[in-house]
Amino acid sequence: MSRCFVTRELPGTALDRLSKGHNVDVWPNRLPPTAQEIAHHVKDAEGILTLLTDRIDASLIESAQHLRAISNYAVGVDNIDVAAATARGIPVGHTPDVLTDATADLTFALLMAVARKLPEAIADVHDGEWVTWEPGRWLGAEVHGATLGIIGMGRIGRAVANRATGFGMNVIHVGRDQLLDELLQASDFVSLHCPLTPATHHLIDAAALEQMRPTAILINTARGPIIDQVALRRALVDGTIAGAALDVTDPEPLPRDDPLLSAPNLIVTPHIGSATRAARERMADLAVDNLLAALAGHPMPHQAN
Ligand code: GLV
Ligand code: GLV
Repeated sequence: MSRCFVTRELPGTALDRLSKGHNVDVWPNRLPPTAQEIAHHVKDAEGILTLLTDRIDASLIESAQHLRAISNYAVGVDNIDVAAATARGIPVGHTPDVLTDATADLTFALLMAVARKLPEAIADVHDGEWVTWEPGRWLGAEVHGATLGIIGMGRIGRAVANRATGFGMNVIHVGRDQLLDELLQASDFVSLHCPLTPATHHLIDAAALEQMRPTAILINTARGPIIDQVALRRALVDGTIAGAALDVTDPEPLPRDDPLLSAPNLIVTPHIGSATRAARERMADLAVDNLLAALAGHPMPHQAN
């Protein structure tokens, strides 16, 4: 029986399985615990189940003397100092695969929504602007036949590519044969699916946006800091690119008065890529499986380090 700290309630019944064998302390609030609160709760804990909103840095890992397992309820692990955990021999678990299709679906929903100007069209219906069928109004971009540039051809990138093929798009990705600049120049839509690392921080900066077509649309369902948001705002205002849809921002949540939100042709959603009931319950199962395995002295089924 090990002591575990779980930083939020999770959908489904996975936490019941954890509680059967272990002494589980679940943070009860809607908002995340602060760094001090996490430190306090993991002081005697052997396992911690974290969310992407919890920063697990080197000093926290060092202060948690008994910690043997970190299980992240996310596929990304950029909220955790994985090197510091590895140095202490602590496995870090994550939840790949189970959220791939949900995230790819949301990517496509955002792509279609910006391309076809859904937010403006919906708002106009509510505002009494739908006065007739207009040949020249609410004109969007054609998706069929357009080129989609994928940055980060991993699990989610490939799932987005499959959807794009079904929509009759031409898919290119950064890889052996395609440089980033070439992809940016050739794409009608650019979609980000790489992890956040020092190498991808502000990968899409002013210079990258300059390479894009004035008709191009940028979609980010990966991590906010991959885009330089000041540069993005300027690019949208100046018409350097035609539109953007972001499910992730820097910071999260994005404050209501953030200047980015006043940019034209922009959709922002509150980091809901994996937000289907099925995906979130499977993520809980995986996160609990990872924690149970490590506490029993076995390798985690999905270990990031
Ligand atoms: C969500 O962003 C995740 O990494 O699971
Ligand atoms: C549109 O509704 C059409 O019939 O062309």
